[in-house]
Amino acid sequence: MSRTLLIVKPDATKRNLIGHIVSRLEKARFKIVEMKMLKLKKSQAREFYAVHQGKHFLDSLVKFMCSGTIVPMALEKENAVKDLRALIGATDPSKADCGTIRFEIARDIEKNSVHASDSDANAKSEISFFFDN
Ligand code: CMP
Repeated sequence: MSRTLLIVKPDATKRNLIGHIVSRLEKARFKIVEMKMLKLKKSQAREFYAVHQGKHFLDSLVKFMCSGTIVPMALEKENAVKDLRALIGATDPSKADCGTIRFEIARDIEKNSVHASDSDANAKSEISFFFDN
């Protein structure tokens, strides 16, 4: 078993899609082991997305991630990181495969409804960013 982090982003929480996303995750056999709702402060969003320091989209991304409620959750499954990335689809929803969560509900490359960790090492640090264990 391995763990990964998913965040339901403000564009999805505003459209009442938390339950829909949870249902997609559970149907795909992910076990939700931690979950909470919160609003990020700008300093927290900058810290979480520190890897994107210097990118042209960072300021807009930080503003967006602080614009409403988010729902981070730690998920458990065999091959959790790889399987979750496959389930959510490409960052840009216009390039996401049919049937993926982003293909189905994301609005654009920024308001793409969900975040998922991209490696086991990042999953560990992203889970500990939001949860205490
Ligand atoms: P996420 O998987 O959370 O990782 C970084 C986020 O930056 C990404 O999803 C998008 O919400 C946002 N973003 C905005 N523009 C871009 C871009 N051109 N390339 C990658 N990510 C972008």
